[in-house]
Amino acid sequence: MTALTAEELSFFKNYGYLLKSNAIPTSLCQRLVDRMWESAPAHLDRDNPKTWTKISLENASNDPLLVHQGTRWQLRSASTEQLLIDAAWHPTIVGWAEQLLGEGTLRKHTVGGKPMGSWGVAWPGGPVDPQLGEGVRGIYATLPLGDEPSPDALHTDGHPFHLGVVLLLEDSPSNGGAFKIWPGSHRRFYPLFPMQYDQARIPFYEHLPSFKGLIHPKEYLEEVRAVEADTDPVDCHGKAGDLVFWHHRMGHMAGHNTAVPPCIRQAMLYDFCKTDLDTMRLTPPHEDMWQDWGQALQNADAPVSNALKQAQRLT
Ligand SMILES: [Fe+2]
Repeated sequence: MTALTAEELSFFKNYGYLLKSNAIPTSLCQRLVDRMWESAPAHLDRDNPKTWTKISLENASNDPLLVHQGTRWQLRSASTEQLLIDAAWHPTIVGWAEQLLGEGTLRKHTVGGKPMGSWGVAWPGGPVDPQLGEGVRGIYATLPLGDEPSPDALHTDGHPFHLGVVLLLEDSPSNGGAFKIWPGSHRRFYPLFPMQYDQARIPFYEHLPSFKGLIHPKEYLEEVRAVEADTDPVDCHGKAGDLVFWHHRMGHMAGHNTAVPPCIRQAMLYDFCKTDLDTMRLTPPHEDMWQDWGQALQNADAPVSNALKQAQRLT
């Protein structure tokens, strides 16, 4: 494996993400996509792109272990299978993640453990919490949206973790539903939460079912509007086996899939957490936002060239 350069580490610090090509072999990607198709919505024919349309309301399912909803087809029941964990922990990827977070600090996944979604959702009607799982988040497919208007809107994730990964399993063109990030927003959002990893939730009570969810500081909501207004998002499209690393406070969204000809965005999503995440969660944001990260990343202070900015689609 080729180590991340000092310039790439500096880029990650500055912009909060890093695109890397050829993280895993395409033969492994194909095995993962084959596994994904075992869970396909009934109306999809793998060999007939004309069938690659949204899931109808009557065929929709919100089962947290296998979501079939609109353009979302998300397989979570396989989150702790050997095949998925082996790909997530490919030595090349682990080498890079350890440069970012520190050697020997990554919390392991458990083959055969509880998949994400086993515990249900964070609150009734809410999202599934990736901390409630012992493997990857899952394989997530984004089906073509068609001609519907599709405005961009960012969010940050509400559960604690360190480093997000979106690993493409098939080629995904621009506007093909790839992950979208707002570069540099991690530095703007990080100090605005009371705690450095968590976001506050309203306690859920059965007698008041409409009062639930995350509760955001006013300063954060204002900054979300500012980032959306002053920063162009980066579409993390690429080839099978490419990935994007992203910081836990990065503004992001699941891209809309409006590519022509139609394609299905196939990706594996997962988080790297450090073994002592739960201790780190107890403190408010640090003065130095990289205090919990690896020494190589903390030390990185190389100038970032225009060539790397272009390769990372910043300009
Ligand atoms: Fe998210």
